[in-house]
Amino acid sequence: MDFQLQYTDKASDARAGVITTGHGKIETPIFMPVGTAGAVKAVHFSELRQQVKAQIILGNTYHLYLRPGLEVLRAAGGLHEFNGWERPILTDSGGFQVFSLSGIRKLTEEGCEFRSHIDGSKHIFTPENVMDTERIIGADIMMALDECPPGLSDYAYAKKSLAMTQRWLDRCINRFNETEPLYGYHQSLFPIVQGCTYKDLRQEAAKYVADKGAEGNAIGGLAVGEPTEVMYEMIEVVNGILPKDKPRYLMGVGTPQNILEGIERGVDMFDCVMPTRNGRNAMLFTYEGTMNMRNKKWEMDFSPLDPNGCETDRVTTKAYLHHLFKAQELLAMQIASIHNLAFYLRLVTDARQHILAGDFVQWKNSIVGQLGQRR
Ligand code: GUN
Repeated sequence: MDFQLQYTDKASDARAGVITTGHGKIETPIFMPVGTAGAVKAVHFSELRQQVKAQIILGNTYHLYLRPGLEVLRAAGGLHEFNGWERPILTDSGGFQVFSLSGIRKLTEEGCEFRSHIDGSKHIFTPENVMDTERIIGADIMMALDECPPGLSDYAYAKKSLAMTQRWLDRCINRFNETEPLYGYHQSLFPIVQGCTYKDLRQEAAKYVADKGAEGNAIGGLAVGEPTEVMYEMIEVVNGILPKDKPRYLMGVGTPQNILEGIERGVDMFDCVMPTRNGRNAMLFTYEGTMNMRNKKWEMDFSPLDPNGCETDRVTTKAYLHHLFKAQELLAMQIASIHNLAFYLRLVTDARQHILAGDFVQWKNSIVGQLGQRR
């Protein structure tokens, strides 16, 4: 993998760059649609390519390991061959999903034990078998196994948890270095900085991760219940230490405002379920604010969702989408998901253009207030 910085903003830490992977280039800053089980919910790959203009999608080790399982993925020749997405894929390592989804789980030095949310069967994720699994999935970017502690963890727990995440990282790196890609293209391993909301732990974690010399680095454990300002402060602390010449990925964040604030603080990659999950729940994101499409105010509004947006935005009226949600048509979820993902990709593309033009901060300040309004 290669990362070239094209431009660093003079008035902030925002950067524009290009990541080159075995499955093509990614222009940063970038938003990565979440394709948990190898599919972005309600959005076909042809729409992701042509309308959303997604350059990379996410998969989850936890879901893919449970279903379809490693035997099928290996036989298919990896996830790209299995699902037909020929652009880059990043896989999260599973720890985070184990904690949010599975029933009984036990955390030990060895790894995390959990029960499948599908059939209750018992499994364990270790740093070693997660590396092996991400090799089999064939992700271009593999995430290290970490513990994402609860948002309001006390200092003692946060410190203990971080120490284990660091030992797990060393085990991930060892296994990663001992193994080869299975499908003939390069795979990268990104470590994850934890440390909750404690500045000294975040600093220590960022130094530890920076010393590993990985091809890219991630910030985890944020947007888990802490105040937004604290999240921004932690990003600043960590990005002050992580290498500038490697991509930085802020995991699981966030709203359009959060993404612009992250970009301003030097983040290059983002993912979040918000555009798809909220879309399925009738909420649209736009530059003028959010819209609840179930609201009666849209019943007679025959203007397009966005005359300047993707094809779906141009041909779908607000009244029609309102009707589809009221009638519980599946197409409602599809249209809203395409709209929201296309909007998120447009947001980061616009941010990139303003970084390159040298007026990112001015542009961001002029639009950020409006993004959170309700239309
Ligand atoms: N997704 C959102 N936050 C996190 C995190 O802290 N760790 C992992 N592995 N995935 C995440």
